Amino acid sequence: MTRKIHTERTAELKIDGKTYTLPIIEGSEGDRAIDISRLLQETGYMTLDTGYKNTGSCASTITYLDGNKGILRYRGYAIEELAEKCSFVEVAYLLIHDKLPNTEELNAFKSLLERFALIHEDMIHFFDHFPSHASPMSILSVMVNSLCNYYPEMSDDPLENIDMTAARLISKIRTIAAFSYKKSMGHPLVYPRHDLSYCGNFLNMMFDKPVKPYTVRPEVVATLNKLLILHADHEQNCSTSTVRLVGSAGVNLYASIAAGINALWGPLHGGANEAVIQMLEAIHADNNDFEKYINKAKDKNDPFRLSGFGHRVYKTYDPRGTIIKKACDEILTVLNISDPLLDIARKLEEIALSDEYFIKRNLYPNVDFYSGIIYRAIGIPTNMFTVMFALGRLPGWIAQWKEMREDPSTKIGRPRQVYVGEPERPFIPLEKRD
Ligand code: CMC
Repeated sequence: MTRKIHTERTAELKIDGKTYTLPIIEGSEGDRAIDISRLLQETGYMTLDTGYKNTGSCASTITYLDGNKGILRYRGYAIEELAEKCSFVEVAYLLIHDKLPNTEELNAFKSLLERFALIHEDMIHFFDHFPSHASPMSILSVMVNSLCNYYPEMSDDPLENIDMTAARLISKIRTIAAFSYKKSMGHPLVYPRHDLSYCGNFLNMMFDKPVKPYTVRPEVVATLNKLLILHADHEQNCSTSTVRLVGSAGVNLYASIAAGINALWGPLHGGANEAVIQMLEAIHADNNDFEKYINKAKDKNDPFRLSGFGHRVYKTYDPRGTIIKKACDEILTVLNISDPLLDIARKLEEIALSDEYFIKRNLYPNVDFYSGIIYRAIGIPTNMFTVMFALGRLPGWIAQWKEMREDPSTKIGRPRQVYVGEPERPFIPLEKRD
């Protein structure tokens, strides 16, 4: 149920000598918005907001984010507490149902995850037809899109069995991700097991081999669990807005999520975790020439940016980044790994945070800056980092899609434009064209 408060306050807009009164809406944590839903109809003017820097696309009860204070909460619960005290499965349930599950609810949800962990055997043949260098993100979106052909029942009433559909997607996406890795390695597939947790199962499917059984270490499971929780939702970011926009056309959940996966792939969004490692490796190979890369990032004529730095909403340290940085130190110690890329990342952060360019623009490390170093340490290949982000973000996408569908005020997403092309001109027959 979407709650928004229409205040007594209004805003006045003066155009061509005429004054229009616009309602002001307030959120439960003090977000303020001017409701312009009747603007075009009443004034003949639209708004123009490239990149939607000032535009709220919906009212939502799922995630609260204060970019100035570095606050992030899911359904009112602080991210720090959820990351410390919950399992990813509990957080997935919380996001989708607006309630932390009790034991019975959690067990029922876990049983569904177990029940739906396999993918249809026919789908396994899909993997054979991708070239060996295929991007795991493209494979993931294709496979998720294809799920609607194998499990079409949700097309009738997607909200009736949301628990089943959510569990099916959350469980199968993990199997798809691990299978795609095994296929890329040319190794036999490892099937999911009912005796392992969500994260334990994923790690086992990724790394167990007939010739060398994988030992699921609880510390690694705990770290992965934390990472997935920290990625689980982030309000109306690019991929989530994509899921909502595509879903607003009435298409099924699988197709909407596949679209979100494609949006997440971009290096300015989820793809940044992969780009960070590539950047750190490049600095390493360049004799740790930090200055060169800092200068490149500051140079307006150079498209290079410091990956894992900056955020549209956070103007301070990303709270997820703080937790991930600590988790990174902890797991590397537990696994007795010394990664030169971690030293480079720390140094880069130190230099950037004392540089006037980054200070002036409030550019801090974001969620992607240290996460890749953890993934490396636990054996995830670099080209699968963004897939890991997608596994984490999935419950958020589902919750946002569900909220969009349940909201009676939802309309098909259809922005306008200011046309700046040629005015009407006479048609030129082919023989007369220059
Ligand atoms: N390195 C160098 N300069 C930067 C960076 C960066 N990483 N990020 C922003 N800037 C500069 C930018 O050039 C601009 O400078 P000026 O005002 O002189 O033109 C100013 O800071 C504002 O940047 P913007 O591009 O207008 O800001 P935005 O809100 O549109 O972009 C961003 C946000 C995340 C796309 C951007 O900070 C960026 O490209 N960061 C690197 C990629 C990255 O780490 N993405 C992951 C984001 S968090 C997880 C997620 O969303 O998936």
